[in-house]
Amino acid sequence: MLLGELRTSRFGRALRVVAETPSTIDVAWEWLHGGGPEGGVVIAERQTRGRGRRGRAWASPRGGLWMSAIARPQLEMGSAGRLGVGLAIATAEAVGAEAGCEVGLKWPNDIVLGGRKLGGVLVETEEEGGRVGAAVLSIGLNVNLEGDSLPEEVRGVGTSLLGETGRRHCIERIAGRVLEELEGLWPEVVGGGRGLVERWGERDVLYGRELGVDVGGETRRGRAGGIDREGALVLMIGGAVDRVAAGEVSSVRGAER
Ligand code: BTN
Repeated sequence: MLLGELRTSRFGRALRVVAETPSTIDVAWEWLHGGGPEGGVVIAERQTRGRGRRGRAWASPRGGLWMSAIARPQLEMGSAGRLGVGLAIATAEAVGAEAGCEVGLKWPNDIVLGGRKLGGVLVETEEEGGRVGAAVLSIGLNVNLEGDSLPEEVRGVGTSLLGETGRRHCIERIAGRVLEELEGLWPEVVGGGRGLVERWGERDVLYGRELGVDVGGETRRGRAGGIDREGALVLMIGGAVDRVAAGEVSSVRGAER
């Protein structure tokens, strides 16, 4: 789906495409604070100070999809995890459909192909009266990148769509498809329910595996049991069930399903 032919009513109706910017996240926040519309989308061909999770640098040369969208979801703060989950599912479904491959998801935010990181999503939120009043939803996807231009964070463990499929893909089509998928999922993102849990489960590369998860300086260990309705990781520890709303998977053991 080319961006000029989008069949959405929310995401991508207002669109800013720039050749270069430090980070699409900053452009989106500035737009949002200046009254930018919900669903407004910023795409950069190249970022000079792209950022990933946990303050890591995210190298963003030409050839990737570097995109941020404005949302005003009015979600309870405890449900903010659904934003990243919805965006990751939308991205995986779009890439799978456009490139014809099996794309996986690794909690909390990795898009995975062939066991390696193809991209990630990043959500920043602003609280208003105990709710998520505003959010910037971002995707970084290594589309037509050669191995040596992959983001530093994923070099070695990362990959690109070009690397996995051996051919180049239309970034604009993938962007359009992501926005359409996200729009389709949006009622579940803001409304809750089991839909996101099930869609995530179809692509969950961690399910059933033994994990170590770093949470605020301590490591919790258990067997991955998918995600819950708020986007938290479910960990089975002995007979008990634990949930991790925010953390980093530091070790994975056991075979993938
Ligand atoms: C991750 O750490 O896995 C998330 C990476 C998110 C990168 C994207 S690229 C578009 C947007 N602008 C940025 O500076 N970062 C996000």
